[in-house]
Amino acid sequence: MKQAIIIGASSGIGWELAVQLAAKGYQLGLMARRRHCLDDLVAQLPGEHFIQTTDLCVAEQAQEELTSLIKLMGDVELIVVNSGVGTKERLLDWQVEREMIDVNVRGFAAMSLTAMNYFIERKAGHLAGVSSCAAHFSAGITPTYNATKAFASNYLNGLRSRAAHSKLPITVTTIEPGFVETPMVEGKPMWLAPIGKSVAQMVKGLMDKKGHIFITKRWRWVALLLDIMPNWLIRKFM
Ligand SMILES: NC(=O)c1ccc[n+]([C@@H]2O[C@H](COP(=O)([O-])OP(=O)(O)OC[C@H]3O[C@@H](n4cnc5c(N)ncnc54)[C@H](OP(=O)(O)O)[C@@H]3O)[C@@H](O)[C@H]2O)c1
Repeated sequence: MKQAIIIGASSGIGWELAVQLAAKGYQLGLMARRRHCLDDLVAQLPGEHFIQTTDLCVAEQAQEELTSLIKLMGDVELIVVNSGVGTKERLLDWQVEREMIDVNVRGFAAMSLTAMNYFIERKAGHLAGVSSCAAHFSAGITPTYNATKAFASNYLNGLRSRAAHSKLPITVTTIEPGFVETPMVEGKPMWLAPIGKSVAQMVKGLMDKKGHIFITKRWRWVALLLDIMPNWLIRKFM
């Protein structure tokens, strides 16, 4: 039986990913802080699955928790680092910004590194990280969130080069959503995509071992445009 771990499975994209991977026959290891949400999720899934609570703000402890979950499960071939925090940064409040940096940067790197080292030891595997199209520009309303996602995309790109140099069959996938209908999204932004469709595209890309997945697909072109647009022009739209 194929095994996968989802870090940040208690809601939104991670929850739906668990539903769709379990439907494909995966046995899952589910991680997040909210135990009751993970219990509710497991109760809805076919098959038997594992739960490990974790708080990415405590990075070294989260690494130990991921390692012990991997050992408990036996032979995990896919690890998705999905946990993330994002909010409008109206007040430039350090406590808010710090949590984003702790989860989206320190926690993200700690989990990705632990997964990568495990796959190197296992001599094969698949690491996927959920970044954002926000990685492609800076915005006054969410300066920290965008910067944390730029870190995530850049870091995964580096790990992908590392995997290529290792000559081992290790895939590193960067997932960059646009707007997906989850509790994180406030209001109804442009092109807000339904969660089922978005995650189905994500699962297809993961099964095809893609290096880069945009959800939904049209955001590839937005990202490309943002990469070549000057900042003064981006500021006119944001
Ligand atoms: N929805 C979008 O439009 C969109 C767009 C671009 C990128 N993304 C990215 O997609 C990912 C999933 O977001 P979502 O939209 O599905 O939001 P969500 O429903 O709020 O889910 C966020 C997940 O992250 C986990 N998490 C938050 N803080 C954590 C912590 N300290 N330790 C461990 N886990 C933590 C949450 O679990 P607990 O609270 O139970 O810990 C939850 O499972 C994030 O990385 C987000 O940045 C989303």
